[in-house]
Amino acid sequence: MRQIIIGNWKMNGSRALVDEMAREVYARAASLPCDLVLCPPATLIAPLAQALPGIAIGGQDCHERVSGAHTGDIAAGMLREAGASHVILGHSERRADHGESDAKVRAKVGAARAAGLTPIVCVGEDEAARQAGRADAVVLGQLAASLPEDFTAGVVGLVAYEPIWAIGSGRIPSEADIAAMHGAIRAALRARFGAAGGAIAILYGGSVKPANAAAVLALPEVGGALVGGASLVPGDFLAIAGAAMAPALGRTPVAG
Ligand code: 13P
Repeated sequence: MRQIIIGNWKMNGSRALVDEMAREVYARAASLPCDLVLCPPATLIAPLAQALPGIAIGGQDCHERVSGAHTGDIAAGMLREAGASHVILGHSERRADHGESDAKVRAKVGAARAAGLTPIVCVGEDEAARQAGRADAVVLGQLAASLPEDFTAGVVGLVAYEPIWAIGSGRIPSEADIAAMHGAIRAALRARFGAAGGAIAILYGGSVKPANAAAVLALPEVGGALVGGASLVPGDFLAIAGAAMAPALGRTPVAG
């Protein structure tokens, strides 16, 4: 499986950044050992899709309904029409800022799948849970309640493990802790979805930078990275993508 490096621009970016990405990232994308997905604010999906044809683009959220009286929200079909193939769902910033529950995230995953988008479902513990030894319980609980039963039918979604305390902080878990959590997530996915659960890419996110990317991406069960701040700097994003593990010879690359 090719690793997947996803850039989450959050509420950042501009037409100028789209142009910069087109100039600096686009030409090098084909030679990277991984697949790329760029997730800009919704207003930049169409320009980015136009400027970087062939690069996967994702939204950062969608509503669970296909349309209706939901001022300020965006439907999965609208993201798709704008040029997106993916959507981040259940990011901890959405869970915190907009009170999104696991049930809400699960409904959004269903809407995304129905529109043909690949959902990127985020889970992660806060610092108090980690310190109390409850990280596994929190993450596996979110995972169980945020994924619908049909998560592996047709469009196979992705899971991103993002410890909240590592986001934007410059701190990341030890390699052993990342490997242990990814192993626990893999075991839960297999237990629930059988062999199909083995094919779900599990990405790590939280302060992934050029300096730590190679070590993180070499860990077992790490299928790629979800990158925030460093995805806004073309050189840093390319350096992280360049650190991805090339797929083993003879294995079929699986696009995200
Ligand atoms: P940072 O890479 O800025 O820590 O953000 C991670 C993240 O939240 C990506 O979704």
